[in-house]
Amino acid sequence: MRILVTGGAGFIGANFLNLLVPRHREHQFVNLDALTYAANPRSLDPVASLPNYAFERADLCDFSGLRAVFARHQPEVVVHFAAESHVDRSIAGPRAFVRTNVEGTFNLLEACRELWTPGQGLFHHVSTDEVFGSLGATGRFDEETRYDPSSPYSASKAASDHLVRAWHRTFGLPVRVSNCSNNYGPLQFPEKLIPLMILNLLERKPLPVYGQGLNVRDWLYVEDHCEAIWAIIGAGQNGRTYNIGGRSEQRNIDVVKQLCHLVAEETGTPEAELLGLICYVSDRPGHDLRYAIDSSRIEAELAWKPRESFASGLRKTVRWYLANRAWIDSVRTGEYRRWIEQNYGSR
Ligand SMILES: NC(=O)c1ccc[n+]([C@@H]2O[C@H](COP(=O)([O-])OP(=O)(O)OC[C@H]3O[C@@H](n4cnc5c(N)ncnc54)[C@H](O)[C@@H]3O)[C@@H](O)[C@H]2O)c1
Repeated sequence: MRILVTGGAGFIGANFLNLLVPRHREHQFVNLDALTYAANPRSLDPVASLPNYAFERADLCDFSGLRAVFARHQPEVVVHFAAESHVDRSIAGPRAFVRTNVEGTFNLLEACRELWTPGQGLFHHVSTDEVFGSLGATGRFDEETRYDPSSPYSASKAASDHLVRAWHRTFGLPVRVSNCSNNYGPLQFPEKLIPLMILNLLERKPLPVYGQGLNVRDWLYVEDHCEAIWAIIGAGQNGRTYNIGGRSEQRNIDVVKQLCHLVAEETGTPEAELLGLICYVSDRPGHDLRYAIDSSRIEAELAWKPRESFASGLRKTVRWYLANRAWIDSVRTGEYRRWIEQNYGSR
């Protein structure tokens, strides 16, 4: 198969390619990525020289450039990861989110519709559980849960999900959608909670926790997410949605405390010293209280299950950041430092 992956230089896309390109030499993988601030080409070092991997720098919002990539590679499957993905950035500047997540997804759907005859091809859309809004203390999101997004990020992802389903119903485009909970693991840009805390711990910087740290997220190790997407591509049904979760709900403050414990153990630092770095900062506006996923559909239909526990996945993640300082230095540019200062400096 010829498989085009968008956003493959970002966190989840790069993990997906690093996992699947070496394993599936019978398939050709093309990574289409605009290389925004969130991308790091070094993340693809393990596959960059393999014969079944190619890279195309292109912006989803440039339709003629996109068509040229489609004409060159004639993909049979599209796996759509590319997005603006950081909630805080969507609050500071929502325009890029509407542009890439809505217009970019629209362009990609149109490029597929142009290339494929009706019923041909497969478009897998990677989305988030944030489209469902916030849960109270109980309950879980399933595939029938009503959309109720809170942030510009989740609203733009919700819009893209609707476009994908409409292209299926209206034009017969073969699509599958997955809505996944929070991912963590190697190669995640250090503006997100877990890598931000690990790097601040290593540098003895304050650990900024929003509000009281009581927001709950359902954490999934990134490779488990990638395996789930691959299972859906292989054996899912067209027009169907699959929720993917880790069955691993954690309050933010507990995640931060576990990271203090792990970094203390891994570096031989007194844990109390690291716990003392925790500071509470004013909450994110519209901050959803709790997300939890009911992934019984994918578990029952595709026999998928997360392999990694939160404890083992978190330790692997800490070890990866400890061992990969060069990768970290290469993503922490001047722009990154300005953003951290702008977002946390005034709270
Ligand atoms: N990270 C999570 O916890 C999580 C959870 C559920 C779903 N998702 C979804 O998974 C996908 C990947 O998330 P991620 O965390 O890897 O994101 P990321 O921000 O790490 O990577 C996004 C990638 O998309 C590329 N990109 C952005 N705009 C582009 C454009 N206009 N044209 C081409 N490429 C562009 C970037 O260069 C980057 O490589 C997103 O669609 C996100 O909504 C993420």
